[in-house]
Amino acid sequence: MKNSMVMLRILTILFFFSASLQAQKFENLLQTPPMGWNSWNTFACDINEEVIREAADYMVSSGMKAAGYEYINIDDCWHGERDEQGFIHEDKEKFPSGMKALADYVHSKGLKLGIYSDAGTETCGGKPGSRGYEYQDALMYAKWGVDYLKYDWCNTENINAKGAYTTISKALYKTGRPIVLSICEWGESKPWEWAQDIGYLWRTTGDIYNCWDCEENHGDWSSWGVMQILDMQDGLRKYAGPGHWNDPDMMEVGNGMCTSEDRAHFTMWAMLAAPLITGNDLSKMNQETIDILTNEEVIAVNQDQMGVQAFKYRSEDGLETWIKPLENGDWAVTFLNRADDDRSINFDWKEENIKDPNFDYSTDFSEITYAVRDLWKHKELRSTKRVLKSSIAPHDVLSLRLTKN
Ligand code: GLA
Repeated sequence: MKNSMVMLRILTILFFFSASLQAQKFENLLQTPPMGWNSWNTFACDINEEVIREAADYMVSSGMKAAGYEYINIDDCWHGERDEQGFIHEDKEKFPSGMKALADYVHSKGLKLGIYSDAGTETCGGKPGSRGYEYQDALMYAKWGVDYLKYDWCNTENINAKGAYTTISKALYKTGRPIVLSICEWGESKPWEWAQDIGYLWRTTGDIYNCWDCEENHGDWSSWGVMQILDMQDGLRKYAGPGHWNDPDMMEVGNGMCTSEDRAHFTMWAMLAAPLITGNDLSKMNQETIDILTNEEVIAVNQDQMGVQAFKYRSEDGLETWIKPLENGDWAVTFLNRADDDRSINFDWKEENIKDPNFDYSTDFSEITYAVRDLWKHKELRSTKRVLKSSIAPHDVLSLRLTKN
Protein backbone atom coordinates (compact mmCIF):
# COMPACT_ATOMS: atom_id res chain seq x y z
CA MET A 1 0.00 0.00 0.00
CA LYS A 2 2.71 2.37 1.10
CA ASN A 3 4.81 1.46 -1.89
CA SER A 4 1.99 2.10 -4.30
CA MET A 5 1.43 5.55 -2.76
CA VAL A 6 5.09 6.38 -3.23
CA MET A 7 4.90 5.11 -6.79
CA LEU A 8 1.85 7.30 -7.47
CA ARG A 9 3.65 10.34 -6.09
CA ILE A 10 6.65 9.68 -8.29
CA LEU A 11 4.44 9.27 -11.32
CA THR A 12 2.60 12.51 -10.54
CA ILE A 13 5.88 14.40 -10.19
CA LEU A 14 7.16 12.88 -13.44
CA PHE A 15 3.93 13.86 -15.19
CA PHE A 16 4.17 17.50 -14.13
CA PHE A 17 7.87 17.56 -14.92
CA SER A 18 7.32 16.23 -18.44
CA ALA A 19 4.38 18.60 -18.95
CA SER A 20 6.62 21.52 -18.06
CA LEU A 21 9.02 20.47 -20.82
CA GLN A 22 6.24 20.90 -23.37
CA ALA A 23 5.62 24.27 -24.95
CA GLN A 24 2.46 25.81 -23.62
CA LYS A 25 -0.21 27.77 -25.41
CA PHE A 26 -2.73 30.26 -24.17
CA GLU A 27 -6.20 28.80 -24.31
CA ASN A 28 -8.84 30.09 -26.70
CA LEU A 29 -6.53 32.24 -28.83
CA LEU A 30 -7.25 32.24 -32.57
CA GLN A 31 -10.24 29.91 -32.48
CA THR A 32 -10.90 31.28 -35.97
CA PRO A 33 -8.16 32.34 -38.43
CA PRO A 34 -6.57 35.71 -37.59
CA MET A 35 -7.60 38.75 -39.62
CA GLY A 36 -5.44 41.81 -39.98
CA TRP A 37 -2.79 43.67 -41.93
CA ASN A 38 0.97 43.29 -42.25
CA SER A 39 3.49 45.87 -43.48
CA TRP A 40 5.79 43.62 -45.52
CA ASN A 41 4.11 43.09 -48.91
CA THR A 42 3.82 46.82 -49.58
CA PHE A 43 6.39 48.59 -47.44
CA ALA A 44 9.12 45.97 -46.92
CA CYS A 45 11.81 47.68 -44.79
CA ASP A 46 10.48 51.17 -45.49
CA ILE A 47 8.36 51.44 -42.35
CA ASN A 48 7.96 53.91 -39.50
CA GLU A 49 5.40 54.69 -36.81
CA GLU A 50 3.43 56.91 -39.18
CA VAL A 51 2.88 54.03 -41.61
CA ILE A 52 1.69 51.77 -38.80
CA ARG A 53 -0.60 54.38 -37.23
CA GLU A 54 -2.11 55.14 -40.62
CA ALA A 55 -2.79 51.46 -41.23
CA ALA A 56 -4.71 51.38 -37.94
CA ASP A 57 -6.63 54.53 -38.88
CA TYR A 58 -7.59 53.21 -42.30
CA MET A 59 -8.49 49.82 -40.94
CA VAL A 60 -11.19 51.56 -38.94
CA SER A 61 -12.32 54.17 -41.50
CA SER A 62 -12.49 51.70 -44.42
CA GLY A 63 -14.90 49.43 -42.53
CA MET A 64 -12.35 46.62 -42.29
CA LYS A 65 -12.35 46.61 -38.50
CA ALA A 66 -16.14 46.35 -38.53
CA ALA A 67 -15.79 43.40 -40.92
CA GLY A 68 -13.58 41.57 -38.41
CA TYR A 69 -9.97 42.65 -39.08
CA GLU A 70 -8.05 43.06 -35.87
CA TYR A 71 -4.25 42.79 -36.06
CA ILE A 72 -1.89 45.54 -37.21
CA ASN A 73 1.34 43.65 -37.73
CA ILE A 74 4.74 45.28 -38.08
CA ASP A 75 7.05 43.05 -40.11
CA ASP A 76 10.84 43.20 -40.46
CA CYS A 77 13.02 46.28 -39.93
CA TRP A 78 11.50 48.02 -36.89
CA HIS A 79 14.58 47.11 -34.85
CA GLY A 80 17.19 49.37 -33.36
CA GLU A 81 19.95 47.84 -31.27
CA ARG A 82 20.32 45.80 -28.14
CA ASP A 83 21.41 47.63 -25.00
CA GLU A 84 24.31 46.48 -22.78
CA GLN A 85 22.02 44.05 -21.00
CA GLY A 86 20.85 42.56 -24.24
CA PHE A 87 17.36 44.07 -24.40
CA ILE A 88 16.15 44.99 -27.87
CA HIS A 89 14.92 48.51 -28.67
CA GLU A 90 13.04 50.01 -31.58
CA ASP A 91 14.79 52.11 -34.23
CA LYS A 92 14.46 55.54 -32.62
CA GLU A 93 14.48 57.38 -35.94
CA LYS A 94 11.67 55.35 -37.43
CA PHE A 95 9.72 54.97 -34.19
CA PRO A 96 10.53 58.14 -32.19
CA SER A 97 7.49 57.78 -29.89
CA GLY A 98 8.48 54.22 -29.03
CA MET A 99 6.80 50.87 -29.40
CA LYS A 100 4.77 51.17 -26.20
CA ALA A 101 3.12 54.39 -27.41
CA LEU A 102 2.41 52.76 -30.76
CA ALA A 103 0.82 49.74 -29.08
CA ASP A 104 -1.29 52.10 -26.94
CA TYR A 105 -2.40 53.92 -30.08
CA VAL A 106 -3.36 50.70 -31.89
CA HIS A 107 -5.19 49.45 -28.79
CA SER A 108 -7.06 52.75 -28.48
CA LYS A 109 -8.61 51.96 -31.87
CA GLY A 110 -9.81 48.59 -30.59
CA LEU A 111 -7.11 46.78 -32.59
CA LYS A 112 -4.12 44.62 -31.69
CA LEU A 113 -0.42 45.04 -32.44
CA GLY A 114 1.86 42.46 -34.00
CA ILE A 115 5.64 42.49 -34.26
CA TYR A 116 8.30 40.42 -36.01
CA SER A 117 11.50 38.62 -35.08
CA ASP A 118 13.60 35.70 -36.22
CA ALA A 119 14.86 32.47 -34.65
CA GLY A 120 18.35 33.06 -36.03
CA THR A 121 21.14 35.51 -35.37
CA GLU A 122 19.70 38.08 -37.78
CA THR A 123 16.32 38.66 -39.37
CA CYS A 124 15.90 38.26 -43.12
CA GLY A 125 16.37 42.04 -43.37
CA GLY A 126 19.66 41.88 -41.43
CA LYS A 127 18.31 43.18 -38.10
CA PRO A 128 19.10 41.60 -34.71
CA GLY A 129 17.52 38.12 -34.45
CA SER A 130 16.27 36.57 -31.21
CA ARG A 131 18.67 33.65 -31.02
CA GLY A 132 20.00 33.57 -27.44
CA TYR A 133 17.71 36.44 -26.42
CA GLU A 134 14.35 34.70 -26.62
CA TYR A 135 13.20 35.31 -23.03
CA GLN A 136 14.44 38.89 -23.02
CA ASP A 137 12.73 39.65 -26.32
CA ALA A 138 9.48 38.08 -25.21
CA LEU A 139 9.59 40.18 -22.02
CA MET A 140 10.14 43.34 -24.03
CA TYR A 141 7.25 42.58 -26.41
CA ALA A 142 4.97 41.92 -23.43
CA LYS A 143 6.10 45.16 -21.80
CA TRP A 144 5.29 47.11 -24.94
CA GLY A 145 1.85 45.49 -25.16
CA VAL A 146 2.44 43.38 -28.25
CA ASP A 147 -0.27 40.82 -29.08
CA TYR A 148 1.21 38.80 -31.96
CA LEU A 149 4.71 37.70 -32.93
CA LYS A 150 5.67 36.54 -36.41
CA TYR A 151 8.88 34.55 -35.96
CA ASP A 152 10.99 34.06 -39.08
CA TRP A 153 13.64 31.52 -40.06
CA CYS A 154 16.57 33.34 -41.70
CA ASN A 155 20.13 32.81 -40.47
CA THR A 156 19.30 29.69 -38.48
CA GLU A 157 22.03 27.43 -39.83
CA ASN A 158 22.23 24.16 -37.90
CA ILE A 159 19.45 24.79 -35.43
CA ASN A 160 16.45 22.59 -35.00
CA ALA A 161 13.14 24.18 -35.96
CA LYS A 162 10.95 22.45 -33.42
CA GLY A 163 13.43 23.30 -30.66
CA ALA A 164 13.78 26.93 -31.69
CA TYR A 165 10.03 27.51 -31.94
CA THR A 166 9.46 25.68 -28.65
CA THR A 167 11.89 28.05 -26.93
CA ILE A 168 10.15 31.20 -28.14
CA SER A 169 6.73 29.69 -27.46
CA LYS A 170 7.71 29.02 -23.84
CA ALA A 171 9.28 32.46 -23.51
CA LEU A 172 6.06 34.10 -24.70
CA TYR A 173 3.98 31.93 -22.41
CA LYS A 174 6.15 32.87 -19.43
CA THR A 175 5.38 36.57 -19.90
CA GLY A 176 1.77 35.86 -19.01
CA ARG A 177 0.56 38.07 -21.87
CA PRO A 178 -1.46 36.16 -24.48
CA ILE A 179 0.74 36.70 -27.53
CA VAL A 180 -0.01 34.78 -30.72
CA LEU A 181 3.02 32.92 -32.08
CA SER A 182 3.01 32.92 -35.88
CA ILE A 183 5.59 30.42 -37.13
CA CYS A 184 7.28 31.58 -40.33
CA GLU A 185 9.54 28.69 -41.25
CA TRP A 186 8.26 28.43 -44.85
CA GLY A 187 7.13 24.82 -44.38
CA GLU A 188 10.69 23.51 -44.65
CA SER A 189 10.53 21.02 -41.79
CA LYS A 190 6.79 20.39 -42.06
CA PRO A 191 5.65 22.41 -39.01
CA TRP A 192 2.09 21.11 -39.54
CA GLU A 193 3.42 17.81 -38.15
CA TRP A 194 4.87 19.23 -34.92
CA ALA A 195 3.71 22.78 -34.24
CA GLN A 196 0.15 22.28 -33.09
CA ASP A 197 1.08 22.71 -29.39
CA ILE A 198 3.75 25.34 -30.08
CA GLY A 199 2.26 28.01 -32.36
CA TYR A 200 -1.14 29.21 -33.53
CA LEU A 201 -0.33 29.25 -37.24
CA TRP A 202 2.55 28.19 -39.44
CA ARG A 203 3.60 29.25 -42.89
CA THR A 204 3.27 26.36 -45.31
CA THR A 205 5.35 27.83 -48.15
CA GLY A 206 7.97 30.35 -49.20
CA ASP A 207 6.92 33.94 -49.81
CA ILE A 208 3.95 34.92 -51.92
CA TYR A 209 4.51 37.12 -54.97
CA ASN A 210 2.05 39.61 -56.37
CA CYS A 211 0.96 37.63 -59.42
CA TRP A 212 -1.68 35.11 -60.33
CA ASP A 213 0.49 32.38 -61.79
CA CYS A 214 4.26 32.80 -61.71
CA GLU A 215 7.52 31.97 -60.04
CA GLU A 216 9.78 34.89 -59.13
CA ASN A 217 13.34 33.65 -58.95
CA HIS A 218 15.62 35.46 -56.48
CA GLY A 219 18.71 33.28 -57.07
CA ASP A 220 18.81 30.79 -54.23
CA TRP A 221 15.08 31.10 -53.46
CA SER A 222 11.81 31.83 -55.23
CA SER A 223 8.60 33.54 -54.31
CA TRP A 224 5.36 32.24 -55.70
CA GLY A 225 2.15 33.37 -57.37
CA VAL A 226 -1.28 32.80 -55.87
CA MET A 227 -1.96 29.64 -57.91
CA GLN A 228 1.43 28.11 -57.04
CA ILE A 229 0.81 28.76 -53.32
CA LEU A 230 -2.67 27.28 -53.62
CA ASP A 231 -1.28 24.07 -55.14
CA MET A 232 1.29 23.78 -52.35
CA GLN A 233 -1.52 23.42 -49.78
CA ASP A 234 -2.29 19.95 -51.07
CA GLY A 235 -2.52 17.38 -48.27
CA LEU A 236 -2.32 19.88 -45.41
CA ARG A 237 -5.97 20.42 -44.52
CA LYS A 238 -6.09 17.64 -41.97
CA TYR A 239 -3.53 19.45 -39.79
CA ALA A 240 -5.48 22.71 -39.36
CA GLY A 241 -8.23 23.63 -36.94
CA PRO A 242 -9.19 26.11 -34.21
CA GLY A 243 -6.02 27.53 -32.63
CA HIS A 244 -3.65 25.95 -35.17
CA TRP A 245 -3.87 27.11 -38.76
CA ASN A 246 -2.03 26.52 -42.02
CA ASP A 247 -0.72 29.89 -43.25
CA PRO A 248 -0.31 30.20 -47.04
CA ASP A 249 1.12 33.73 -46.49
CA MET A 250 -0.24 37.25 -46.41
CA MET A 251 -2.53 38.37 -49.18
CA GLU A 252 -1.71 40.44 -52.26
CA VAL A 253 -5.27 41.72 -52.77
CA GLY A 254 -5.16 45.38 -53.84
CA ASN A 255 -1.52 45.21 -54.92
CA GLY A 256 -2.01 45.18 -58.68
CA MET A 257 -3.66 41.97 -59.86
CA CYS A 258 -6.92 42.50 -61.73
CA THR A 259 -10.21 42.59 -59.82
CA SER A 260 -11.28 39.04 -60.69
CA GLU A 261 -7.88 37.70 -59.61
CA ASP A 262 -8.07 39.60 -56.34
CA ARG A 263 -11.59 38.27 -55.80
CA ALA A 264 -10.49 34.69 -56.54
CA HIS A 265 -7.38 35.02 -54.32
CA PHE A 266 -9.48 36.34 -51.41
CA THR A 267 -12.13 33.65 -51.87
CA MET A 268 -9.59 30.83 -51.95
CA TRP A 269 -7.85 32.11 -48.80
CA ALA A 270 -11.28 32.17 -47.14
CA MET A 271 -11.96 28.61 -48.34
CA LEU A 272 -8.57 27.46 -47.00
CA ALA A 273 -9.41 28.84 -43.53
CA ALA A 274 -6.21 30.82 -44.03
CA PRO A 275 -5.23 33.87 -42.01
CA LEU A 276 -6.80 36.88 -43.72
CA ILE A 277 -3.81 39.16 -43.31
CA THR A 278 -3.86 41.88 -45.95
CA GLY A 279 -0.61 43.16 -47.41
CA ASN A 280 -1.74 46.23 -49.35
CA ASP A 281 -1.52 49.95 -48.59
CA LEU A 282 -4.75 50.55 -46.69
CA SER A 283 -4.47 54.30 -47.26
CA LYS A 284 -4.70 53.86 -51.04
CA MET A 285 -7.51 51.34 -51.52
CA ASN A 286 -10.04 51.82 -54.29
CA GLN A 287 -13.66 50.85 -53.73
CA GLU A 288 -13.24 47.50 -55.50
CA THR A 289 -10.47 46.47 -53.12
CA ILE A 290 -12.49 47.57 -50.10
CA ASP A 291 -15.52 45.65 -51.38
CA ILE A 292 -13.44 42.49 -51.78
CA LEU A 293 -11.74 42.72 -48.40
CA THR A 294 -14.97 43.48 -46.54
CA ASN A 295 -17.27 40.93 -48.17
CA GLU A 296 -18.83 39.65 -44.99
CA GLU A 297 -20.39 36.59 -46.59
CA VAL A 298 -16.98 35.38 -47.78
CA ILE A 299 -15.39 36.33 -44.46
CA ALA A 300 -18.06 34.23 -42.70
CA VAL A 301 -16.85 31.20 -44.68
CA ASN A 302 -13.31 31.86 -43.44
CA GLN A 303 -14.38 32.54 -39.86
CA ASP A 304 -16.70 29.55 -39.59
CA GLN A 305 -16.45 28.14 -36.06
CA MET A 306 -15.77 24.58 -37.23
CA GLY A 307 -12.46 25.70 -38.69
CA VAL A 308 -12.36 23.04 -41.42
CA GLN A 309 -10.39 23.81 -44.58
CA ALA A 310 -11.84 23.29 -48.03
CA PHE A 311 -10.87 20.30 -50.15
CA LYS A 312 -10.54 20.12 -53.92
CA TYR A 313 -13.49 18.09 -55.09
CA ARG A 314 -12.87 18.19 -58.81
CA SER A 315 -10.41 19.57 -61.35
CA GLU A 316 -11.21 19.53 -65.02
CA ASP A 317 -9.83 21.59 -67.87
CA GLY A 318 -8.75 24.51 -65.65
CA LEU A 319 -11.98 24.55 -63.67
CA GLU A 320 -11.65 23.51 -60.03
CA THR A 321 -14.44 22.83 -57.54
CA TRP A 322 -13.56 23.42 -53.89
CA ILE A 323 -15.81 22.46 -50.99
CA LYS A 324 -15.73 23.52 -47.32
CA PRO A 325 -17.96 22.05 -44.61
CA LEU A 326 -19.50 24.74 -42.41
CA GLU A 327 -21.39 24.94 -39.13
CA ASN A 328 -25.01 23.78 -38.94
CA GLY A 329 -24.59 21.48 -41.89
CA ASP A 330 -23.97 24.35 -44.34
CA TRP A 331 -21.41 24.06 -47.13
CA ALA A 332 -19.32 26.54 -49.09
CA VAL A 333 -18.79 25.58 -52.72
CA THR A 334 -16.38 27.55 -54.90
CA PHE A 335 -15.80 27.06 -58.61
CA LEU A 336 -12.40 28.49 -59.55
CA ASN A 337 -11.58 29.17 -63.19
CA ARG A 338 -7.80 29.01 -63.55
CA ALA A 339 -7.98 28.99 -67.36
CA ASP A 340 -7.44 31.97 -69.64
CA ASP A 341 -10.91 31.78 -71.17
CA ASP A 342 -14.45 31.31 -69.89
CA ARG A 343 -15.58 28.02 -68.38
CA SER A 344 -19.18 26.94 -68.15
CA ILE A 345 -20.66 25.15 -65.19
CA ASN A 346 -23.32 22.52 -65.44
CA PHE A 347 -23.56 21.09 -61.96
CA ASP A 348 -26.39 18.72 -61.20
CA TRP A 349 -26.31 18.51 -57.41
CA LYS A 350 -28.32 15.30 -57.37
CA GLU A 351 -25.65 13.56 -59.40
CA GLU A 352 -22.88 14.62 -57.02
CA ASN A 353 -21.70 12.62 -54.07
CA ILE A 354 -19.80 14.98 -51.81
CA LYS A 355 -17.79 13.30 -49.09
CA ASP A 356 -15.10 14.97 -47.05
CA PRO A 357 -11.89 12.95 -47.58
CA ASN A 358 -10.52 13.64 -44.07
CA PHE A 359 -13.44 14.34 -41.76
CA ASP A 360 -16.85 12.86 -41.31
CA TYR A 361 -19.00 15.18 -43.42
CA SER A 362 -21.06 14.31 -46.45
CA THR A 363 -24.11 15.43 -48.38
CA ASP A 364 -27.04 13.62 -49.82
CA PHE A 365 -28.63 15.95 -52.34
CA SER A 366 -31.35 13.48 -53.25
CA GLU A 367 -32.59 13.54 -49.63
CA ILE A 368 -31.81 17.08 -48.51
CA THR A 369 -32.43 20.28 -50.45
CA TYR A 370 -30.26 23.31 -49.81
CA ALA A 371 -30.84 26.98 -50.56
CA VAL A 372 -27.97 28.29 -52.71
CA ARG A 373 -26.59 31.79 -52.25
CA ASP A 374 -24.06 33.57 -54.47
CA LEU A 375 -21.53 35.14 -52.07
CA TRP A 376 -20.30 37.80 -54.52
CA LYS A 377 -23.60 38.80 -56.12
CA HIS A 378 -25.28 38.55 -52.70
CA LYS A 379 -28.34 36.86 -54.07
CA GLU A 380 -30.21 33.58 -53.86
CA LEU A 381 -29.89 31.21 -56.80
CA ARG A 382 -32.11 28.24 -57.48
CA SER A 383 -31.96 25.48 -54.88
CA THR A 384 -29.99 22.24 -55.16
CA LYS A 385 -33.11 20.64 -56.66
CA ARG A 386 -32.20 22.38 -59.91
CA VAL A 387 -29.09 22.03 -62.03
CA LEU A 388 -26.63 24.89 -61.49
CA LYS A 389 -25.79 26.50 -64.82
CA SER A 390 -23.38 29.36 -65.06
CA SER A 391 -20.29 30.66 -66.77
CA ILE A 392 -17.14 31.96 -65.10
CA ALA A 393 -14.71 34.50 -66.54
CA PRO A 394 -11.00 33.66 -66.57
CA HIS A 395 -9.22 33.83 -63.19
CA ASP A 396 -12.48 34.32 -61.36
CA VAL A 397 -14.74 32.38 -59.02
CA LEU A 398 -18.35 31.51 -58.44
CA SER A 399 -18.66 31.10 -54.70
CA LEU A 400 -21.78 29.69 -53.05
CA ARG A 401 -23.14 28.96 -49.62
CA LEU A 402 -25.50 26.04 -49.28
CA THR A 403 -27.96 26.13 -46.39
CA LYS A 404 -30.37 23.34 -45.51
CA ASN A 405 -33.93 24.29 -46.35
C1 GLA B 1 10.82 36.38 -44.97
C2 GLA B 1 9.35 36.14 -44.66
C3 GLA B 1 8.53 37.29 -45.20
C4 GLA B 1 8.99 38.59 -44.57
C5 GLA B 1 10.47 38.80 -44.81
C6 GLA B 1 11.02 39.97 -43.99
O1 GLA B 1 11.07 36.35 -46.33
O2 GLA B 1 8.93 34.93 -45.21
O3 GLA B 1 7.15 37.08 -44.97
O4 GLA B 1 8.69 38.57 -43.21
O5 GLA B 1 11.22 37.64 -44.43
O6 GLA B 1 12.40 40.16 -44.18
